[in-house]
Amino acid sequence: MPATVVIGGQWGDEGKGRIVDLLAQRATIVARYSAGNNAGHTVINHLGTFKLNLVPAGIFYADKTCIIGNGMALDVRRLLEEIEQLEARGVSTQRLRVSDRAHVIMPWHPIIDRLDEELRGPLAVGTTGRGVGPAFADKVGRIGVRVADLVDGVRFPDRLRYVLDYKNRVLTRLYEAEPLDYKTVLAQYQDFGARLEPFVADTAVMVQQALDRGEEVLLEGAQGALLDLDFGTYEFVTSSVPSSSAAGAALGIGIGPNEISRTVGVYKAYQTRVGGGPMPTELFDEVGAHIADRAQEFGTTTGRARRCGWFDAVAAAYTRRLNGLTSAVVTRLDVLDDLPEIKICTAYQLDGVRIDTFPASSTALAECGPVLETLPGWQQPTSDVRRFADLPAAAQGYVRRIEELLGCPVDLVSVGPEREQAIWVREII
Ligand code: GDP
Ligand code: IMO
Ligand code: MG
Repeated sequence: MPATVVIGGQWGDEGKGRIVDLLAQRATIVARYSAGNNAGHTVINHLGTFKLNLVPAGIFYADKTCIIGNGMALDVRRLLEEIEQLEARGVSTQRLRVSDRAHVIMPWHPIIDRLDEELRGPLAVGTTGRGVGPAFADKVGRIGVRVADLVDGVRFPDRLRYVLDYKNRVLTRLYEAEPLDYKTVLAQYQDFGARLEPFVADTAVMVQQALDRGEEVLLEGAQGALLDLDFGTYEFVTSSVPSSSAAGAALGIGIGPNEISRTVGVYKAYQTRVGGGPMPTELFDEVGAHIADRAQEFGTTTGRARRCGWFDAVAAAYTRRLNGLTSAVVTRLDVLDDLPEIKICTAYQLDGVRIDTFPASSTALAECGPVLETLPGWQQPTSDVRRFADLPAAAQGYVRRIEELLGCPVDLVSVGPEREQAIWVREII
């Protein structure tokens, strides 16, 4: 059986966790392949409301194996906390496995994340401050610490001494900050290593074996394609290596790209963004405030207010193409239930010219004005609807228009945060 990737098609928080929780029913393995605890994936099911930073959203099924892949940057303290919190609420984490090749977020990474943002001043990225960008920079810079190093009782002290000496020079000479104490970090990370060890495995082999047995594997993306390092709104992007796009999934989990045959893009029925960077359809009026208020648009990880705007079909078609999407999912349709009219951005106006491509330059994107098409609202509740044909005609029309502009079928529409609040148009897995 092939693997299926679920990615965010916008700037993150599209509802990937909620969709993976739903799709996981058909899979035997659910694996995260990128990023770290900058991600916050909300799942609401019969067990309650959960906000996951690191653990894949398949954890609520007792028979699924959940994997933290080699492509992730792992804050071990946060993972151990998350495991404890899940166990305390009756969710077993016995089938969780962590790749021995994943990179570890070390105590200097959040410090450098904060100091870097300060140095950038008004052009700060607005990071989550979790040290994820600096950890991936160290991965590329070949000065990272991996899970295999951390759990190796014999070699870890030497690896830490080498890396910490280097990092202390960076901290003191470049940032004029305090150095970190070797013995303190060693003791703490030896303890983390010992507690993490039972979960550690060569996860790429596990995934391949499952695929060879004909089982279904679900690969859970983090962030959104517009935050991707290569194709997002650089430099207001996240630093995952491999990419947070679908193409990164094979690399971030350790399988060949030909094992992936379905790519599912999750899109909110409107647009949000948290942190800095341009967003052409951003609303600064009472409609934006209404969406933010009704949807409670606050970051799952940091609690920051999310910026809201109309659905941007130029950006959406761009991420559909880059990820070769075979299915789209539209979430949060119910958030628009009260609005008398709804707008979609179908092109940009830049320097007096109409364009329908997504500019490479964030400065140019910031100068793009949205060309908006107006559609009628439906002003009826949709949260209890379970069949597409039972949606109000205007809501069906809105989804169909998104589908047309996106260039890919909308196979699932979400009308609420709970597992059952979904309208299947066509089977995905
Ligand atoms: P993720 O990072 O993509 O997993 O998304 P987040 O969990 O950060 O943010 C999505 C938010 O939308 C969460 O609060 C979800 O509970 C909520 N949500 C997901 N789907 C729906 C939906 O169809 N309707 C409503 N009202 N809320 C939704
Ligand atoms: P999920 O998986 C929304 C944003 C941050 C910031 C930029 C860089 O929940 O969709 P970072 O800490 O990654 O260096 O910050 O990326 N960002 C997200 N925005 N959802 C996320 O994840 C995000 N992860 C990072 O707000 O603008
Ligand atoms: Mg989120």
